[in-house]
Amino acid sequence: MDIEDELQATIAEMVQPGKGILAADESLPTITKRFKPIGAESTEETRRAYRSLLFSTPKIGEFISGVILFEETLGQRADDGTLLSEVLSRQHIVPGIKVDKGKIPLARAPGDEITQGLDGLAERLRVYKGQGARFAKWREVYAISARNPSRLGIDANAEMLARYAAVCQEEGFVPIVEPEVLIDGDHSLERCLEVTEAVLHAVFHALYRHRVILEYMVLKPSMVLPGKLHPSQATPEQVAAATVKVLRRTVPAAVPSINFLSGGLSPMEATANLNAMNALFPRLPWELSFSYGRALQQPVLQAWAGRVENRPAAQQALYRRARLNGLACHGKYRPEMEKET
Ligand code: 13P
Repeated sequence: MDIEDELQATIAEMVQPGKGILAADESLPTITKRFKPIGAESTEETRRAYRSLLFSTPKIGEFISGVILFEETLGQRADDGTLLSEVLSRQHIVPGIKVDKGKIPLARAPGDEITQGLDGLAERLRVYKGQGARFAKWREVYAISARNPSRLGIDANAEMLARYAAVCQEEGFVPIVEPEVLIDGDHSLERCLEVTEAVLHAVFHALYRHRVILEYMVLKPSMVLPGKLHPSQATPEQVAAATVKVLRRTVPAAVPSINFLSGGLSPMEATANLNAMNALFPRLPWELSFSYGRALQQPVLQAWAGRVENRPAAQQALYRRARLNGLACHGKYRPEMEKET
């Protein structure tokens, strides 16, 4: 298959109305942080057990079209010896891989950060492809303060995302481009809107300069929200209006799908906000869907609590959350559904 056919086949499987992506690509320190409150120790074996529970959830492919994996998981197997990437493929879910190597402070730009991992990326992708991965994810992070992100921070981060995306496409991987404007701080919704607009504008300018084919990528942005410490919080309708306004100004119609991150929102907030966007704006040029980590996994972790006997309850929690988000992709979620079993 030539590269464009390969990219086309992958994007067609990833982008399906009513389905989204599960981010299960927590790094070792992050998964340790997620396991701690439920009293589970993070070892190679507990991580394997947890992630094989997620991926073998019966019928989860009804609402999940792709899963982002951490490198370690790509080499792991389910209890019956099946590779976890194969467990996903059998559920008609595309396996993907987080390829960035985390962030460091950006030199000469106090308060801004930059993500590492471009060196040797093409070679790593070839190995991951042999292990079954077909798309990739790279995250850049922008904290909001009176001075951040700086012009330098916005441009340098956009350049990284575009270089990563171009390498991915050359290797036949669909890139998920993730610029995350953080929810931390007391900034207003208007300030978040201004920052997100500048960030996305720079990202698409860089993607154009690096000749990234927009039809074969997924954008994974944060929603436009007031900071967590801002005195007044926004309704789902306000978040939807502000987020769609920015996306319309900055994201070309050639991009097939925008899959939001949850970024510290509660599972219900993340679902309600996505639902409001699809209910209020049914005629947008892109699919609006989810690529949640915490907002999908939080109820699952609580139900599992590190115990094998809780596996069915944990899988039920994942199926339920994925289903509600699937409904939100159609604007058909209602808060009352939270009470149904
Ligand atoms: P959250 O939905 O928990 O923000 O995770 C998504 C993700 O992949 C972050 O890189």
